[in-house]
Amino acid sequence: MAEGRHVVLGVTGGVAAYKAVYLARRLIDRGATVRVVMTESALEFVGSATFGAITGTDPVTSFFGGEDVSPHTTLGRWADVIVIAPATASTISKLAAGQSSDVLVATVLASRARVVIAPAMHTEMLDQPAVQKNIETLRAYGYEIVDPEDGPLAGGDEGPGRLADPEVIADAVREAFPRLDMAGLRVIVTAGGTREPIDPVRYIGNRSSGKMGASIAEVAVERGAEVVLVTTTTQTPVGSIEIVQVETADEMAEAVWSRAGAADVAVLAAAVADFRPDQVHRTKIRRTAGVPEIRLVPTPDILKGVSEMTSRPFLVGFAAETGSLDTASEKATAKDVDLLVANDIAKEGSGFGSDTNEVRFVFRDGSTRDLPLMSKRDVATQIWDTVMTLRAES
Ligand code: PMT
Repeated sequence: MAEGRHVVLGVTGGVAAYKAVYLARRLIDRGATVRVVMTESALEFVGSATFGAITGTDPVTSFFGGEDVSPHTTLGRWADVIVIAPATASTISKLAAGQSSDVLVATVLASRARVVIAPAMHTEMLDQPAVQKNIETLRAYGYEIVDPEDGPLAGGDEGPGRLADPEVIADAVREAFPRLDMAGLRVIVTAGGTREPIDPVRYIGNRSSGKMGASIAEVAVERGAEVVLVTTTTQTPVGSIEIVQVETADEMAEAVWSRAGAADVAVLAAAVADFRPDQVHRTKIRRTAGVPEIRLVPTPDILKGVSEMTSRPFLVGFAAETGSLDTASEKATAKDVDLLVANDIAKEGSGFGSDTNEVRFVFRDGSTRDLPLMSKRDVATQIWDTVMTLRAES
């Protein structure tokens, strides 16, 4: 079912545009709220009033002239899924090239929603290597392609290229909806590296960008969780996330410990300084005063603090290692976590700052699972899939 889900239906200029009217009706029957975006040539085949009457809202047909000054970004953010049916060779080509010259392609490019494409065209066009290459490019980008069928085409022709049955397209839209398996779950995530001040100018810090933690927060909120992100960075995740901005380990500890008791799951991905200067100079330390001696004292162990809470959340810790990940198992036991995510920060494409990461999961019983190099978003998805499975088993 599609209760409460938002679908943008893109209609392009082909005879099969009339079937998009029925598709809109079926999506609404299944519970979705549908907004339609039509290209200029789609308007030659079906009137916008027809879609307006079915969906209850006028279709968007241009960047300009409507009440919204930026309809493509508004709809792009609103959509859970964008489906283009029928999709002409021209629109497919623009999408493959990232060419946002019309409001429909711009809506897709301005969105993080899953995209379903249902091509429809004459067999000769479909068979063209350029068209096939563009379809394959979209597939490689992660777009869902609903293959056209073999059957009667416009102008009395017959063969492959006919728009797939609207019920089949509606099923593909349903499959594309993000899972809401984390609805009702309260989650706290930490991200970024703490900064421990030496004086008003200098601090002890590290290279964490906050990308790993932001991805973990983003995926959780997409799957329906209520998310608090305690972060030191300005890396802003998409979605309705409560952001708690902190700078030092002490501030992060306070923010996490005061909220973790009410959380179901805590994922501590931040790179927290283990030591801080015992004194912060009130004024800038002058070079002329000679080499300063800075005494360090330990910071609070935030992870350990959460693990010792009487009513503790399901706890996921990270381990930043250099070289072998074998010592991570000791960390998992010492910190008493339910799951440890270890990464080798010295490895190409892993750890600090990159968009990718290669991690090892260490489980409570000491067993491990190595994941290949993948985007931090995909690592986040793997973490949540594993957390959900482990919670269900416990
Ligand atoms: O932010 P990015 O640029 O995307 O990089 C991601 C990352 C490399 C920072 C991330 O993947 C990662 O490894 N985070 C943990 C970094 C770290 O501090 O690891 P650690 O092995 O020193 O600490 C182990 C665990 O204890 C971590 O969960 C850490 O958050 C926690 N800790 C550490 C010290 C401290 N005083 N309190 C803590 O809670």
